[in-house]
Amino acid sequence: MSEIYFITGAQGCIGSWIVKALIERGGSVVVFDRSDDSRRLSAIMDGEQLAKVRFITGDITEGAAVLSAMNESGADRVIHLAGLQVPTCKADPVAGALVNVAGTLNVFEAAKTIGIKRVVYASSAAVYGMNDDDAALDETAQCSPTTHYGVFKRANEGNARVYFLDHGINSVGLRPLTVYGVNRDTGLTSDPTKAMKSAVLGRPFHIRFGGATDFQYVADTAAAFIACADDMLEGAHVFNLHGETVTVDRIAKFINSQIAHSNGDLITFGGPPIPIAAAMDDSAIRRVVNGLPSTPLEAGVRETIDRFAVLRDAGRLDTSDLDA
Ligand SMILES: NC(=O)c1ccc[n+]([C@@H]2O[C@H](COP(=O)([O-])OP(=O)(O)OC[C@H]3O[C@@H](n4cnc5c(N)ncnc54)[C@H](O)[C@@H]3O)[C@@H](O)[C@H]2O)c1
Repeated sequence: MSEIYFITGAQGCIGSWIVKALIERGGSVVVFDRSDDSRRLSAIMDGEQLAKVRFITGDITEGAAVLSAMNESGADRVIHLAGLQVPTCKADPVAGALVNVAGTLNVFEAAKTIGIKRVVYASSAAVYGMNDDDAALDETAQCSPTTHYGVFKRANEGNARVYFLDHGINSVGLRPLTVYGVNRDTGLTSDPTKAMKSAVLGRPFHIRFGGATDFQYVADTAAAFIACADDMLEGAHVFNLHGETVTVDRIAKFINSQIAHSNGDLITFGGPPIPIAAAMDDSAIRRVVNGLPSTPLEAGVRETIDRFAVLRDAGRLDTSDLDA
């Protein structure tokens, strides 16, 4: 395979799993991230695999840096993930817009200048906001985001459409909701993953939300990004992603059932539901991309717990997210 993938934000959770999957199948990967801290990649890849990744440290808000890195990478496929999460955008909406909106424009501008015709980028189910019933939302549902983050992601989808209309750049924006798995350590919806890590350490943990959410195993999320980058559709598309819609109660119970503790249940939960409709309909992406994996909740949680346990036993389990 000779394709080169330029991946922004790949020192983060979803990006680390995309890099892992690409390196495992012999792909060439260039990571562009403002962070040079590769602890997430190291948590799921060995040294030999890591040595095959090329790293460029840079800030997505600096257009010249993005252009120069993308150009130098020789990439023909771009996966754009760099971004700030909901709480950071809430605390500082201006910084949020610079990174999430202007940063995304910088990626498209660089692709336009270089002549790259395929960009896959992370949108989010946060573009929707709440819905009144339990029905799964498809992409025709109204978008009424209730956070700055969701508004920024929606703006990116509109800008991607304009880049197709004006410059013929094909794009796919993917809308995950609650991704879980090793390396998920930032934002409110990282709580279930933090609960798995805490349980492995024998520590109590309180998941700060209730209700139900659409819960997707991170390896499946990564597979969707790669499939869309490989099999680029013509036009500007946005697709929901869907794992399993489950209550936090079921997640907490399952974690507790996997890790017996003498003091009773380690994992508790409570709080308002995530302000995003809990069920996404992913039939649109499944109509155009064959064979997307769909890891059942129990299998994904078990794999995550097993991976955390191996890291713990090796003295390599990063607990900075729990201690923060
Ligand atoms: N994780 C989820 O459940 C979820 C759900 C919906 C959408 N998304 C979106 O998917 C993308 C990836 O999510 P994640 O969970 O991997 O996030 P993450 O927070 O783990 O990683 C984000 C990465 O972006 C980098 N970054 C931030 N600002 C940057 C800047 N100015 N310049 C360069 N790099 C910068 C960070 O260093 C980090 O490595 C994000 O755009 C996020 O909004 C994630």
